[in-house]
Amino acid sequence: MFDPIDLDPIETASRDELQALQLRRLQWSLRHAYDHVPFYRRSFDAAGVHPDDCRSLEDLARFPFTTKEDLRAAYPFGMLAVPRERLSRVHASSGTTGRPTVVGYTRRDVDTWADVMARSMRAAGARPGDLVHVAYGYGLFTGGLGAHYGAERLGCTVVPVSGGMTERQVRLIADLRPDVIMATPSYLLTILDECDRQGFDPRKASLRVGLLGAEPWTESMRREVEERFDMHAVDIYGLSEVMGPGVAQECVETKDGPHIWEDHFYPEIVSPASGSVLEDGAAGELVFTSLTKEALPIIRYRTRDLSRLLPGTARSMRRMAKVTGRSDDMMILRGVNVFPSQIEEIVLRVPGLAPHYECVLERPGRLDELTVRVEARTALDARQSEQRAAALAAVVKDSVGVSVKVDVLAPGALERSMGKARRVVDLR
Ligand code: DLL
Repeated sequence: MFDPIDLDPIETASRDELQALQLRRLQWSLRHAYDHVPFYRRSFDAAGVHPDDCRSLEDLARFPFTTKEDLRAAYPFGMLAVPRERLSRVHASSGTTGRPTVVGYTRRDVDTWADVMARSMRAAGARPGDLVHVAYGYGLFTGGLGAHYGAERLGCTVVPVSGGMTERQVRLIADLRPDVIMATPSYLLTILDECDRQGFDPRKASLRVGLLGAEPWTESMRREVEERFDMHAVDIYGLSEVMGPGVAQECVETKDGPHIWEDHFYPEIVSPASGSVLEDGAAGELVFTSLTKEALPIIRYRTRDLSRLLPGTARSMRRMAKVTGRSDDMMILRGVNVFPSQIEEIVLRVPGLAPHYECVLERPGRLDELTVRVEARTALDARQSEQRAAALAAVVKDSVGVSVKVDVLAPGALERSMGKARRVVDLR
């Protein structure tokens, strides 16, 4: 189904070759940040380190972290390493609270981004000449334009639909017969429901593969989407502060977690509490250092995304385990850490429940309580709803170890996502 295609030589280079390139680029990036961004000069000086101290990749651990708060404090353009006039683009992160984080790209950065996105799409199984339906939002969000430039770079025909107007999305999928779709997993579900509403069988659609990301999603969601669309669904990861989509991409032939494009983005996993670097394989917070970015070099950026670094498989570059959640989304119930993705995995194991759910946190007394609100796939009577609710609560208790309340709702009761779904509603 997927014709073999030439890879970039670096995608299959030996670890030694890759590490030699990473070290050279890392030394450049640290120097570039130190020389051109006052923030980095101050933070390196305060930590008593200098770019010359980086003689091996391990030396990176001596350099200070950069956080979202650092970027916010430099709003809008304080972190730039080039004059604003040299930017060819700005984007902003989808910050829901506080100031947005503005990021900038030189012409060469946009070019590098198109390259890594084209590489991502190829790894996902897209090929030159494919018709690509982009349902990520266009605008300040990096999803739409990032996908767009990558698809063009790969030699595809792009349909720049953007998010929203779901009725029209389905029309276009039926009429234009795209090979590839790019959307958040939750928005793809919205599109699937609209297919059902219009009486259009999604399995009859032409789609071969979907590149889904920008929010956590689970293996059971993969099964749901693959089954209902009769296509492959692969994970694409990225964040605006580091570039946008295309920092890491899952290969369609293995579907075993995204490969990080390590020749441009150097990953570390650190302990969220102490910040110390953990061994590959250990669970912790992902930290990225850009190796080639001109406008906004980013050194040891704390993503708050929880993952693990795993050895390469389909490519020699390392993989990251599918992000289980952001530390911000972690709910703590009677001392047990719970992520919405764990709930998702379980929801889809209970027959009759749909993948539309939200986690509502309340504090009626002194303790936090979690109510899972989830839709039924078809209309149920009160007794059936109660049975499903009890079944879900039992599995959550059994596999996560916490007691939750469950409300089973009618199909369509929850607001549909047009981009990133809001899984946690905090009413405390
Ligand atoms: O979401 C970039 C992107 C667009 C990635 C389209 C993939 C596809 P931000 O808006 O800055 O950028 O949000 C970045 O989204 O730190 C993660 O918490 C989350 N995220 C992104 N991709 C994934 C994924 C884009 N595949 C934040 N799995 C990141 C889980 C993801 N979480």
